Amino acid sequence: MTKSAIPASEQDRVIIFDTTLRDGEQSPGATMSHNEKLEIASMLDEMGVDVIEAGFPIASEGDFAAVSEIAKNSVNSVICGLSRANYGDIDRAWEAVKHAAQPRIHTFIGTSPLHRDITKLDQEEMAVKIEQTVSHARNLCADVQWSPMDATRTEHDYLCRVVEIAIKAGATTINIPDTVGYTAPRESAELIRMLLERVPGADEIVFATHCHNDLGMATANALAAVEAGARQIESTINGLGERAGNTALEEVVMAMRVRNDIMPYRTGIDTTKIMGISRKVAAVSGFAVQYNKAIVGKNAFAHESGIHQDGVLKNAETFEIMRPEDIGLTETNLVMGKHSGRAALRSKLEDLGYELGDNQLKDVFVRFKELADRKKEIYDEDLIALMSDNTTGAANDHIQVKFLRVICGTEAPQSADLTLVVGEDTHQVTATGDGPVDATFNAIKQVFPHEAKLALYQVHAVTEGTDAQATVSVRMEEDGKIVTGQSSDTDTVVASAKAYVNALNKLIVRREKSAPAAL
Ligand code: KIV
Ligand code: ZN
Repeated sequence: MTKSAIPASEQDRVIIFDTTLRDGEQSPGATMSHNEKLEIASMLDEMGVDVIEAGFPIASEGDFAAVSEIAKNSVNSVICGLSRANYGDIDRAWEAVKHAAQPRIHTFIGTSPLHRDITKLDQEEMAVKIEQTVSHARNLCADVQWSPMDATRTEHDYLCRVVEIAIKAGATTINIPDTVGYTAPRESAELIRMLLERVPGADEIVFATHCHNDLGMATANALAAVEAGARQIESTINGLGERAGNTALEEVVMAMRVRNDIMPYRTGIDTTKIMGISRKVAAVSGFAVQYNKAIVGKNAFAHESGIHQDGVLKNAETFEIMRPEDIGLTETNLVMGKHSGRAALRSKLEDLGYELGDNQLKDVFVRFKELADRKKEIYDEDLIALMSDNTTGAANDHIQVKFLRVICGTEAPQSADLTLVVGEDTHQVTATGDGPVDATFNAIKQVFPHEAKLALYQVHAVTEGTDAQATVSVRMEEDGKIVTGQSSDTDTVVASAKAYVNALNKLIVRREKSAPAAL
């Protein structure tokens, strides 16, 4: 196959498109704050992601502001904004991305029979709409991506027809979404092959693959599409995304690297940054990475059984197909403590994949010292929890915990004295409950009444020992909107209060955002 859209020397190069901040953030409970989005975008840019889908600008003022600012701060990555197939959405996306050195508009419409029913458009009417909206986007921006949503369940003849229309109207990338995670690897490859063979002009554009993981095949489907000629993979960090998530960036990138003998493709990703960004996304989204997750799970490089440990000690390749350091996982046995200085902390954090500016280091050092005062030995896991705690130093959070004291014991009810700052006001309350956590949550509710339901409360110890930190996750639901808050502290009740307040702060952000229909 000759792909004239890509120079011959670049035909093995796969464009990595990251949609953690759009499809990932759409996943129920994964709301991120403005600053968190900016930090993640800057990490994605730095790790060599080619295209960052920064958000859905029409969805809310907050989304628009985040996409605009990410566009302004972008260095190497193309910055893309999503829009439905109407002029208002497309104009808004352009307003947000136009500040980028390399802007892209991504516009989509559901083309399968089910989606045509929802939009009440017949094949002809939809074809006209596609021509008009893609042309409109192309008049604004030289880089236009078009997606026939639910492509894998769209009739082949109609899919070929609309892809041809979009190419003629000026689309430079055609993305083929498996919106409901329905396809399988062979079918995913055949679809791309069919489009390349049948659609006039197909060799002038880049085909992208966008897979969801409902049947656990998102990574395999994306790689199969690449083998068939797609040259852009849409993915998210940790596989975050709607329902079962999207193709995980770290999986496709490492698969092409480790099995380059059978998948001879290149990406521009600096794989040593994978672990750092994986931890960051887990922390801000509140979606912990499952222990046995490929590449970035806690156990991905752990060897428990005697035979495995013995083999790895003699020759790491016995049971390791990649080195931990390839993904930025450098484990040192250096335990930190209250006498450790700032330089040691910086170097340790760098080993763990965190690169901090001077101001950030100053802030983390203060929190590190506070922790070291309460806990004699600080392990890697403690530092990761410290770095993942997004409830500290968040000066722009609407609600903040200032003071908490609980009285607990064998005599019920337990009580909590709480000082909470809400906006400009400071409130002091006392509440009782069934145990110290319940009393604390009742106190918070007294100050900040709300109808949100507590959908999940989870505690896990970061390390062993009675002085271990606890990481608490709190998931709340209000009017179908789900948010997850997280915090760590050596005091489980304090961590619980902060996680609860973190969830409420996210809910406040979420209330401003009402996702548009047809997504
Ligand atoms: O899954 C999907 O179809 C999408 C589109 C908006 C590209 O996310
Ligand atoms: Zn999607």
